[in-house]
Amino acid sequence: MAKKVTLSVIKADVGSYPGHVVVPPELLDECEKHLEAAQKKKIINDFYVAHCGDDINLIMTHYRGVDSSEIHKLAWDSFKAATVVAKKMKLYGAGQDLLKDAFAGNVKGLGPGVAEMEFVERPAESIIVFAADKTDPGAFSLPFYRAFADPFCTPGLTIDPKMHPGFTFEVHDIVENKKIMLNTPEETYDLTALVGSTGHYLIKRIYRRIDNEISAVLSTDKLALIAGQYVGKDDPCAAARVQAGFPSVGEMIEPFAFPHLVSGWMRGSHRGPLMPVSELDARNSRLDGPSRVISLGFNISDGNLVGPQDLFADIAYDYTRKQAQEIADYMRRHGPFEPHRLGEEDMEYTNLPKILEKFKHRFENIK
Ligand code: 13P
Ligand code: 13P
Ligand code: MG
Ligand code: MG
Repeated sequence: MAKKVTLSVIKADVGSYPGHVVVPPELLDECEKHLEAAQKKKIINDFYVAHCGDDINLIMTHYRGVDSSEIHKLAWDSFKAATVVAKKMKLYGAGQDLLKDAFAGNVKGLGPGVAEMEFVERPAESIIVFAADKTDPGAFSLPFYRAFADPFCTPGLTIDPKMHPGFTFEVHDIVENKKIMLNTPEETYDLTALVGSTGHYLIKRIYRRIDNEISAVLSTDKLALIAGQYVGKDDPCAAARVQAGFPSVGEMIEPFAFPHLVSGWMRGSHRGPLMPVSELDARNSRLDGPSRVISLGFNISDGNLVGPQDLFADIAYDYTRKQAQEIADYMRRHGPFEPHRLGEEDMEYTNLPKILEKFKHRFENIK
Protein backbone atom coordinates (compact mmCIF):
# COMPACT_ATOMS: atom_id res chain seq x y z
CA MET A 1 0.00 0.00 0.00
CA ALA A 2 1.18 3.50 -0.83
CA LYS A 3 2.67 5.47 2.03
CA LYS A 4 0.37 8.09 3.58
CA VAL A 5 1.55 11.54 4.55
CA THR A 6 -0.09 13.37 7.45
CA LEU A 7 -0.83 17.07 7.54
CA SER A 8 -1.27 18.31 11.12
CA VAL A 9 -2.38 21.82 12.00
CA ILE A 10 -2.36 22.45 15.74
CA LYS A 11 -3.04 25.92 17.12
CA ALA A 12 -3.02 27.77 20.41
CA ASP A 13 -3.01 31.31 21.77
CA VAL A 14 -0.22 31.42 24.33
CA GLY A 15 0.21 35.17 24.55
CA SER A 16 0.18 38.37 22.51
CA TYR A 17 0.76 42.09 22.64
CA PRO A 18 -0.72 44.58 23.16
CA GLY A 19 -3.76 42.81 24.59
CA HIS A 20 -4.97 40.17 22.13
CA VAL A 21 -3.65 41.80 18.93
CA VAL A 22 -0.67 39.83 17.65
CA VAL A 23 1.86 37.08 18.44
CA PRO A 24 5.34 38.66 18.74
CA PRO A 25 8.16 37.09 16.68
CA GLU A 26 9.88 35.79 19.83
CA LEU A 27 7.09 33.24 20.33
CA LEU A 28 7.10 32.16 16.70
CA ASP A 29 10.90 31.76 16.89
CA GLU A 30 10.56 29.59 19.98
CA CYS A 31 8.08 27.29 18.21
CA GLU A 32 10.27 27.19 15.09
CA LYS A 33 13.24 26.16 17.24
CA HIS A 34 11.29 23.19 18.58
CA LEU A 35 9.95 22.12 15.20
CA GLU A 36 13.38 22.46 13.61
CA ALA A 37 14.86 20.15 16.25
CA ALA A 38 12.02 17.66 15.63
CA GLN A 39 12.69 17.85 11.91
CA LYS A 40 16.36 17.01 12.50
CA LYS A 41 15.28 14.01 14.60
CA LYS A 42 12.93 13.02 11.74
CA ILE A 43 9.83 13.25 13.94
CA ILE A 44 8.36 15.59 11.34
CA ASN A 45 9.27 16.07 7.70
CA ASP A 46 8.56 19.75 7.34
CA PHE A 47 6.77 22.63 9.05
CA TYR A 48 5.63 26.22 8.81
CA VAL A 49 4.80 28.31 11.85
CA ALA A 50 1.97 30.69 10.98
CA HIS A 51 0.02 33.11 13.08
CA CYS A 52 -3.38 34.66 12.75
CA GLY A 53 -3.61 37.57 15.17
CA ASP A 54 -2.81 36.22 18.64
CA ASP A 55 -2.99 32.54 17.62
CA ILE A 56 0.01 30.40 16.68
CA ASN A 57 -0.66 27.75 14.03
CA LEU A 58 1.85 24.91 13.75
CA ILE A 59 1.58 23.44 10.25
CA MET A 60 3.44 20.12 10.11
CA THR A 61 3.91 17.25 7.67
CA HIS A 62 5.00 13.78 8.82
CA TYR A 63 4.36 10.06 8.43
CA ARG A 64 3.04 9.29 11.91
CA GLY A 65 -0.69 9.44 11.20
CA VAL A 66 -3.39 11.52 12.90
CA ASP A 67 -3.52 11.65 16.70
CA SER A 68 0.15 10.69 16.94
CA SER A 69 1.31 11.17 20.52
CA GLU A 70 4.78 12.25 19.29
CA ILE A 71 3.29 15.00 17.13
CA HIS A 72 0.88 16.15 19.83
CA LYS A 73 3.70 16.17 22.38
CA LEU A 74 5.81 18.24 20.00
CA ALA A 75 2.99 20.78 19.63
CA TRP A 76 2.28 20.80 23.37
CA ASP A 77 5.97 21.23 24.27
CA SER A 78 6.34 24.02 21.69
CA PHE A 79 3.34 25.88 23.12
CA LYS A 80 4.60 25.33 26.68
CA ALA A 81 8.02 26.70 25.74
CA ALA A 82 6.42 29.67 23.96
CA THR A 83 4.37 30.28 27.12
CA VAL A 84 7.58 30.52 29.15
CA VAL A 85 8.81 33.20 26.72
CA ALA A 86 5.40 34.92 26.86
CA LYS A 87 5.52 35.00 30.66
CA LYS A 88 9.05 36.40 30.64
CA MET A 89 7.92 39.12 28.24
CA LYS A 90 4.83 39.69 30.42
CA LEU A 91 2.63 39.28 27.35
CA TYR A 92 -1.13 39.38 27.53
CA GLY A 93 -2.90 36.06 28.08
CA ALA A 94 0.36 34.10 28.47
CA GLY A 95 -0.57 30.43 28.23
CA GLN A 96 -4.20 31.39 27.52
CA ASP A 97 -5.22 28.29 25.56
CA LEU A 98 -3.32 25.69 27.59
CA LEU A 99 -6.31 25.14 29.83
CA LYS A 100 -5.37 21.86 31.42
CA ASP A 101 -1.89 20.78 32.36
CA ALA A 102 -2.61 17.10 31.93
CA PHE A 103 -0.89 16.09 28.70
CA ALA A 104 -1.20 12.36 28.21
CA GLY A 105 -0.43 11.77 24.55
CA ASN A 106 -3.03 14.04 22.90
CA VAL A 107 -3.77 17.77 23.06
CA LYS A 108 -7.51 17.25 22.44
CA GLY A 109 -9.63 18.58 25.26
CA LEU A 110 -6.72 20.52 26.76
CA GLY A 111 -7.27 23.79 24.86
CA PRO A 112 -5.34 23.77 21.56
CA GLY A 113 -7.29 23.38 18.30
CA VAL A 114 -6.50 20.42 16.04
CA ALA A 115 -7.09 19.71 12.33
CA GLU A 116 -5.25 16.67 10.94
CA MET A 117 -5.65 14.43 7.91
CA GLU A 118 -3.75 11.56 6.36
CA PHE A 119 -3.68 10.72 2.65
CA VAL A 120 -1.62 9.31 -0.19
CA GLU A 121 0.14 12.24 -1.80
CA ARG A 122 -1.20 12.94 -5.32
CA PRO A 123 1.19 13.75 -8.21
CA ALA A 124 0.55 17.42 -7.32
CA GLU A 125 -0.85 17.71 -3.79
CA SER A 126 -2.16 21.25 -3.38
CA ILE A 127 -3.60 22.15 0.02
CA ILE A 128 -4.87 25.25 1.80
CA VAL A 129 -4.56 25.89 5.52
CA PHE A 130 -7.06 28.29 7.06
CA ALA A 131 -6.78 30.02 10.43
CA ALA A 132 -9.07 32.58 12.01
CA ASP A 133 -8.89 34.92 14.98
CA LYS A 134 -11.55 36.54 17.20
CA THR A 135 -14.18 34.02 16.26
CA ASP A 136 -15.14 30.38 16.83
CA PRO A 137 -15.18 27.16 14.75
CA GLY A 138 -18.74 27.90 13.56
CA ALA A 139 -17.20 30.66 11.41
CA PHE A 140 -16.01 27.96 8.97
CA SER A 141 -19.39 26.25 8.59
CA LEU A 142 -20.82 28.53 5.91
CA PRO A 143 -17.69 28.75 3.73
CA PHE A 144 -16.91 25.00 3.90
CA TYR A 145 -20.54 24.12 3.22
CA ARG A 146 -20.50 26.41 0.18
CA ALA A 147 -17.13 25.23 -1.19
CA PHE A 148 -18.14 21.54 -1.04
CA ALA A 149 -21.92 21.59 -1.56
CA ASP A 150 -23.03 24.74 -3.37
CA PRO A 151 -22.71 24.75 -7.18
CA PHE A 152 -23.30 28.52 -7.17
CA CYS A 153 -19.92 28.74 -5.42
CA THR A 154 -18.11 25.72 -6.85
CA PRO A 155 -18.61 25.07 -10.58
CA GLY A 156 -16.66 21.80 -10.17
CA LEU A 157 -19.68 20.25 -8.43
CA THR A 158 -21.50 20.55 -11.73
CA ILE A 159 -18.75 19.88 -14.25
CA ASP A 160 -15.98 17.81 -12.64
CA PRO A 161 -16.85 14.06 -12.87
CA LYS A 162 -14.94 13.33 -9.62
CA MET A 163 -16.86 15.97 -7.68
CA HIS A 164 -20.24 15.50 -9.31
CA PRO A 165 -21.29 12.54 -7.05
CA GLY A 166 -20.92 14.95 -4.09
CA PHE A 167 -19.25 14.93 -0.71
CA THR A 168 -19.92 13.33 2.69
CA PHE A 169 -19.92 15.68 5.67
CA GLU A 170 -18.99 14.40 9.13
CA VAL A 171 -20.92 16.72 11.45
CA HIS A 172 -20.21 16.88 15.18
CA ASP A 173 -22.75 17.77 17.82
CA ILE A 174 -20.27 19.47 20.15
CA VAL A 175 -22.78 19.75 22.99
CA GLU A 176 -23.81 16.07 23.10
CA ASN A 177 -20.44 14.81 21.78
CA LYS A 178 -22.03 12.83 18.93
CA LYS A 179 -21.45 12.65 15.20
CA ILE A 180 -23.49 12.07 12.04
CA MET A 181 -22.45 11.45 8.41
CA LEU A 182 -24.53 13.30 5.79
CA ASN A 183 -24.31 12.89 2.02
CA THR A 184 -24.67 15.79 -0.37
CA PRO A 185 -26.38 16.54 -2.65
CA GLU A 186 -29.34 14.41 -1.52
CA GLU A 187 -29.12 15.33 2.18
CA THR A 188 -28.29 18.99 1.62
CA TYR A 189 -31.39 20.21 3.46
CA ASP A 190 -30.61 17.95 6.44
CA LEU A 191 -27.04 19.21 6.47
CA THR A 192 -28.06 22.88 6.45
CA ALA A 193 -30.70 22.19 9.11
CA LEU A 194 -27.84 21.16 11.40
CA VAL A 195 -24.79 23.24 10.48
CA GLY A 196 -26.90 26.42 10.32
CA SER A 197 -26.66 26.22 14.15
CA THR A 198 -23.05 27.37 14.15
CA GLY A 199 -22.54 26.99 17.90
CA HIS A 200 -23.91 23.46 18.11
CA TYR A 201 -23.30 21.36 14.97
CA LEU A 202 -19.89 21.71 13.35
CA ILE A 203 -18.33 20.24 10.23
CA LYS A 204 -15.39 18.08 11.34
CA ARG A 205 -14.39 16.29 8.11
CA ILE A 206 -15.43 16.19 4.48
CA TYR A 207 -14.92 13.17 2.19
CA ARG A 208 -15.23 12.89 -1.58
CA ARG A 209 -17.93 10.34 -2.32
CA ILE A 210 -16.54 8.83 -5.49
CA ASP A 211 -13.63 7.24 -3.59
CA ASN A 212 -14.12 8.28 0.05
CA GLU A 213 -10.91 10.36 -0.08
CA ILE A 214 -10.48 12.82 2.79
CA SER A 215 -11.01 16.34 1.44
CA ALA A 216 -10.99 18.65 4.44
CA VAL A 217 -10.65 18.73 8.21
CA LEU A 218 -11.59 21.44 10.68
CA SER A 219 -10.90 22.12 14.35
CA THR A 220 -14.05 22.00 16.47
CA ASP A 221 -12.55 22.55 19.91
CA LYS A 222 -14.66 24.80 22.17
CA LEU A 223 -12.71 26.36 25.02
CA ALA A 224 -15.72 27.42 27.08
CA LEU A 225 -17.06 23.85 26.99
CA ILE A 226 -13.66 22.64 28.28
CA ALA A 227 -13.11 25.36 30.89
CA GLY A 228 -16.74 26.07 31.82
CA GLN A 229 -16.13 29.81 31.48
CA TYR A 230 -14.94 32.43 29.02
CA VAL A 231 -11.23 32.02 28.37
CA GLY A 232 -10.89 33.64 24.97
CA LYS A 233 -12.57 32.48 21.79
CA ASP A 234 -11.97 29.12 20.15
CA ASP A 235 -10.15 30.61 17.20
CA PRO A 236 -10.25 27.78 14.66
CA CYS A 237 -7.97 26.25 12.02
CA ALA A 238 -8.75 24.01 9.07
CA ALA A 239 -7.12 22.39 6.06
CA ALA A 240 -8.46 21.42 2.64
CA ARG A 241 -7.02 19.48 -0.28
CA VAL A 242 -7.60 21.36 -3.52
CA GLN A 243 -7.58 20.81 -7.30
CA ALA A 244 -7.96 17.67 -9.42
CA GLY A 245 -11.25 16.33 -8.08
CA PHE A 246 -11.44 18.58 -5.05
CA PRO A 247 -12.52 22.23 -5.10
CA SER A 248 -9.89 24.29 -6.92
CA VAL A 249 -7.91 26.94 -5.02
CA GLY A 250 -10.30 29.60 -6.30
CA GLU A 251 -13.42 27.58 -5.46
CA MET A 252 -12.14 26.85 -1.96
CA ILE A 253 -11.52 30.50 -1.11
CA GLU A 254 -14.48 31.93 -3.06
CA PRO A 255 -16.97 31.68 -0.12
CA PHE A 256 -14.72 34.06 1.86
CA ALA A 257 -15.46 36.81 -0.69
CA PHE A 258 -18.68 37.21 1.31
CA PRO A 259 -17.78 38.69 4.74
CA HIS A 260 -20.46 36.72 6.60
CA LEU A 261 -21.39 37.43 10.21
CA VAL A 262 -19.63 35.32 12.82
CA SER A 263 -19.44 35.17 16.62
CA GLY A 264 -16.41 36.53 18.44
CA TRP A 265 -14.87 39.98 18.11
CA MET A 266 -14.65 42.04 21.33
CA ARG A 267 -14.51 39.83 24.45
CA GLY A 268 -15.74 36.94 22.33
CA SER A 269 -19.21 38.36 22.84
CA HIS A 270 -20.18 40.00 19.57
CA ARG A 271 -21.27 39.31 16.04
CA GLY A 272 -19.39 40.91 13.20
CA PRO A 273 -18.10 40.24 9.69
CA LEU A 274 -15.29 37.75 8.99
CA MET A 275 -12.64 39.70 7.08
CA PRO A 276 -10.21 37.73 4.85
CA VAL A 277 -6.70 39.19 5.19
CA SER A 278 -3.02 38.41 4.60
CA GLU A 279 -1.05 36.91 7.49
CA LEU A 280 0.55 40.35 7.98
CA ASP A 281 -2.84 42.05 8.22
CA ALA A 282 -4.18 39.63 10.83
CA ARG A 283 -3.67 42.24 13.55
CA ASN A 284 -7.08 42.84 15.02
CA SER A 285 -7.23 46.25 16.60
CA ARG A 286 -10.62 47.87 15.94
CA LEU A 287 -12.63 46.77 18.96
CA ASP A 288 -10.22 43.81 18.91
CA GLY A 289 -11.49 42.93 15.45
CA PRO A 290 -13.32 42.59 13.24
CA SER A 291 -12.73 38.82 13.10
CA ARG A 292 -10.04 37.77 10.59
CA VAL A 293 -9.29 34.73 8.49
CA ILE A 294 -6.08 33.87 6.63
CA SER A 295 -5.50 31.19 4.00
CA LEU A 296 -2.08 29.79 3.17
CA GLY A 297 -1.63 27.66 0.06
CA PHE A 298 1.06 24.96 -0.17
CA ASN A 299 1.98 21.97 -2.28
CA ILE A 300 3.15 18.87 -0.48
CA SER A 301 6.06 17.25 -2.29
CA ASP A 302 7.41 13.96 -0.89
CA GLY A 303 6.23 15.03 2.54
CA ASN A 304 7.74 18.51 2.27
CA LEU A 305 5.86 21.80 2.20
CA VAL A 306 6.31 24.01 -0.85
CA GLY A 307 5.07 27.50 0.03
CA PRO A 308 3.21 29.20 1.53
CA GLN A 309 1.35 31.44 -0.85
CA ASP A 310 -0.66 33.99 1.15
CA LEU A 311 -3.94 33.71 -0.78
CA PHE A 312 -6.00 36.50 0.79
CA ALA A 313 -3.18 38.97 0.07
CA ASP A 314 -4.75 39.07 -3.42
CA ILE A 315 -6.09 42.53 -4.23
CA ALA A 316 -9.26 40.78 -5.49
CA TYR A 317 -10.22 40.53 -1.78
CA ASP A 318 -9.93 44.32 -1.28
CA TYR A 319 -13.60 44.76 -2.09
CA THR A 320 -14.57 42.10 0.49
CA ARG A 321 -12.44 43.89 3.07
CA LYS A 322 -14.16 47.20 2.27
CA GLN A 323 -17.56 45.53 2.60
CA ALA A 324 -16.45 43.94 5.88
CA GLN A 325 -15.54 47.36 7.23
CA GLU A 326 -18.91 48.79 6.22
CA ILE A 327 -20.64 45.86 7.95
CA ALA A 328 -18.40 46.36 10.99
CA ASP A 329 -19.51 50.01 11.17
CA TYR A 330 -23.15 49.06 10.81
CA MET A 331 -22.94 46.37 13.50
CA ARG A 332 -21.01 48.68 15.88
CA ARG A 333 -23.89 51.14 15.85
CA HIS A 334 -25.99 48.60 17.77
CA GLY A 335 -23.64 49.09 20.73
CA PRO A 336 -24.58 46.74 23.59
CA PHE A 337 -27.71 45.47 21.87
CA GLU A 338 -28.33 42.16 20.14
CA PRO A 339 -27.72 41.07 17.45
CA HIS A 340 -24.32 42.85 17.68
CA ARG A 341 -23.91 41.48 21.19
CA LEU A 342 -24.42 37.72 21.25
CA GLY A 343 -27.62 36.21 22.63
CA GLU A 344 -27.96 35.14 26.27
CA GLU A 345 -27.05 31.53 25.63
CA ASP A 346 -23.56 32.48 24.40
CA MET A 347 -23.12 35.13 27.08
CA GLU A 348 -23.44 32.41 29.73
CA TYR A 349 -19.71 31.73 29.46
CA THR A 350 -18.63 35.39 29.66
CA ASN A 351 -18.36 37.65 32.69
CA LEU A 352 -21.91 38.98 32.15
CA PRO A 353 -23.48 36.54 34.67
CA LYS A 354 -21.28 38.15 37.39
CA ILE A 355 -22.79 41.56 36.55
CA LEU A 356 -26.35 40.17 36.51
CA GLU A 357 -25.76 38.54 39.91
CA LYS A 358 -25.21 41.99 41.44
CA PHE A 359 -28.83 43.14 41.12
CA LYS A 360 -30.56 39.78 41.28
CA HIS A 361 -31.98 40.60 44.73
CA ARG A 362 -33.58 43.82 43.42
CA PHE A 363 -36.00 41.99 41.15
CA GLU A 364 -39.59 41.96 42.42
CA ASN A 365 -42.50 39.85 41.23
CA ILE A 366 -44.88 41.62 38.85
CA LYS A 367 -48.40 41.42 40.25
P1 13P B 1 -9.62 41.40 30.24
O1 13P B 1 -10.59 41.40 31.39
O2 13P B 1 -8.59 40.36 30.34
O3 13P B 1 -9.07 42.77 29.94
O4 13P B 1 -10.49 40.88 28.99
C1 13P B 1 -11.02 41.69 28.05
C2 13P B 1 -10.33 41.50 26.80
O5 13P B 1 -9.38 40.79 26.71
C3 13P B 1 -10.81 42.22 25.63
O6 13P B 1 -9.70 42.54 24.82
P1 13P C 1 -8.77 35.85 21.73
O1 13P C 1 -9.84 34.81 21.86
O2 13P C 1 -8.28 36.00 20.34
O3 13P C 1 -7.68 35.61 22.71
O4 13P C 1 -9.44 37.26 22.06
C1 13P C 1 -10.02 37.46 23.31
C2 13P C 1 -10.76 38.74 23.48
O5 13P C 1 -11.37 38.92 24.49
C3 13P C 1 -10.77 39.73 22.42
O6 13P C 1 -11.50 40.88 22.78
MG1 MG D 1 -5.80 36.06 23.09
MG1 MG E 1 -7.21 34.63 19.13
